[in-house]
Amino acid sequence: IKRIRTHHLAEMKQRGEKITMLTAYDMYTAQVFDEAGIDLLLVGDSASNNVLGNETSLPITVDELLPFTRAVAKSAKRAMVVGDLPFGSYQASPEQAYLTAVRFMKEGGAHCVKLEGGAEMAPVITKLVQGGIPVMAHIGFTPQSEHTLGGYRIQGRGAGAEKVIADAHAVEEAGAFAVVMEMVPADVAGQISKELHIPTIGIGAGVDCDGQVLVWQDAFGLRTGRMPKFVKQYADVRSVLLEGAKAYAADVKGATFPDPEHSF
Ligand code: KIV
Ligand code: NA
Repeated sequence: IKRIRTHHLAEMKQRGEKITMLTAYDMYTAQVFDEAGIDLLLVGDSASNNVLGNETSLPITVDELLPFTRAVAKSAKRAMVVGDLPFGSYQASPEQAYLTAVRFMKEGGAHCVKLEGGAEMAPVITKLVQGGIPVMAHIGFTPQSEHTLGGYRIQGRGAGAEKVIADAHAVEEAGAFAVVMEMVPADVAGQISKELHIPTIGIGAGVDCDGQVLVWQDAFGLRTGRMPKFVKQYADVRSVLLEGAKAYAADVKGATFPDPEHSF
């Protein structure tokens, strides 16, 4: 496979091969994750709180996210690059959504876009797909709606399961090629993954999703502090950088760097 495309993901689901996805926001991480064989690179609006220093994903703008998208798109040779539509850039109307998504495809070089919302976003999804833009939906807990959802909480528990299930079917019917499910009980996510024809990508949604996604700063230990239950840490990048920076500072303070080997 030269470049992962939507049909490859559908084929993976059919043969039971799990789909891998990570966020990436710059050239080197995109190169590394692409080399590792990660299928999908998401230039998430999570750049807001993982790169730009904001507390949530809400403040990031299209103009801020586009350069990151371009960097990842230029750097990934095999992975499919997903542009994440920021809060407020697509909810007003299908037309607004289309114009924003076109920017992610043309200026950002993304191969598809992701947007948050279920049944209520069906007309938007259909509009984009009809206009040539593959859409990945995102249901369950949707961070851009944290203020209407009342904070970071699991969606689809108990009676709430019906809504998440209905949203999953609605985005599939609207034409989405895949759907992210965030913080959904594992049994509900498993049922949805069985019922849908399109692949499901879970984050805090159990092992029965067709694929998984994590924010790389969470997965590889750059972010510190209290972590959501669904995060597993696979590396300790922060320690590596911290030790490196300390060693560099000690060498400079001690006038042992640069030594003759690193001087002209
Ligand atoms: O922006 C993001 O990182 C996301 C993933 C958590 C799915 O939307
Ligand atoms: Na996002």
